[in-house]
Amino acid sequence: MSFGIRPLRREDEPALQRVMEATLEVDAYPGFNAWDLDREADSMLGAPDGVAVALEDDFVCGFVSPHCGNLTVHPEFRRRGHGRRLFGAGLDLAAKAGADELRLYVPLSGAGRAFAPAMGLTYRSSMWLMYLAPETAVPVPALSAGVVVRTFGDWLPLPSLVALLNAAFVDHPGGTSWALAEIEHAHARLDFDPSTLTLVAPADRPDDPIAFVRVEVGPPEEGDPAPVGDVLLVGVLSEWRGRGLGRELLRSGVAQLRARGAGRVKLSVEAENELALGLYLRTGFKPTVEWPHWTSPSQRL
Ligand SMILES: CC(C)(COP(=O)(O)OP(=O)(O)OC[C@H]1O[C@@H](n2cnc3c(N)ncnc32)[C@H](O)[C@@H]1OP(=O)(O)O)[C@@H](O)C(=O)NCCC(=O)NCCS
Repeated sequence: MSFGIRPLRREDEPALQRVMEATLEVDAYPGFNAWDLDREADSMLGAPDGVAVALEDDFVCGFVSPHCGNLTVHPEFRRRGHGRRLFGAGLDLAAKAGADELRLYVPLSGAGRAFAPAMGLTYRSSMWLMYLAPETAVPVPALSAGVVVRTFGDWLPLPSLVALLNAAFVDHPGGTSWALAEIEHAHARLDFDPSTLTLVAPADRPDDPIAFVRVEVGPPEEGDPAPVGDVLLVGVLSEWRGRGLGRELLRSGVAQLRARGAGRVKLSVEAENELALGLYLRTGFKPTVEWPHWTSPSQRL
């Protein structure tokens, strides 16, 4: 039997999905469904160099993605050191990406609770998965006359969009960033709909966006009669904050999702991001599932 680690390759897609499907069934992470994992797999395949996979006799049996905060070993391949080797690879990837820490999601129950401290990880903070009930009224968005609202299209080159996303999230507590290849990959999907990305620009510089909201309608979740809407991203450049743009874009995202047939609407937020959390709470979103994140310095000691 041989064990190994190597970077993810695009042709690993079925193998990656196999690991995710098996773990979804066995670990049943709260608040995650097949749709979420598919999106996560897509994000990893968009920037495969940022992900390492574990091999057992050439069979891909686990992966680590510092960007997604996910380290998972196929349930049938656990307790053979794959997790430990992936953790080492994750530290190297995080250091290579210039991050000073490796941050991983550790479910509240399951093997991760023993694995994380064994690797020297410590609890850092949690993300909240929040839901807005279908009956909660949300005011109609009202953006000021000084800005224009446009959906994404050829008018905005992809590198400019990536620069905008990264600039809006530069001070984010979770340290989120995107690579051009990852966004290219996401936009190349057959089901990518540019009208799900709304951008706001100053009226006198309409090609120079300063804020955005991205939404997506997913399948109904357990017990839901209607599809569940997802506010994937809301961002405002720091120099444009404090003028209500985030609030109005959130309202616009909810209105778009409801117009597309969504019942409940969900989003996730870093608990330490007090401004965003406050905005979501005031809009009527309720914290429902906690996703704890544990961290380790990315430099090996
Ligand atoms: C957590 C997970 C990644 C561990 O993978 P793994 O390949 O089984 O881990 P390893 O065999 O490398 O174990 C490394 C150490 O972690 C600890 N550990 C792992 N699983 C454990 C368990 N079920 N019970 C107690 N300790 C455990 C042990 O200290 C182990 O060292 P040892 O085997 O020398 O005793 C795997 O169970 C998994 O994918 N779980 C679901 C996802 C998850 O929780 N990820 C958390 C990422 S931080």
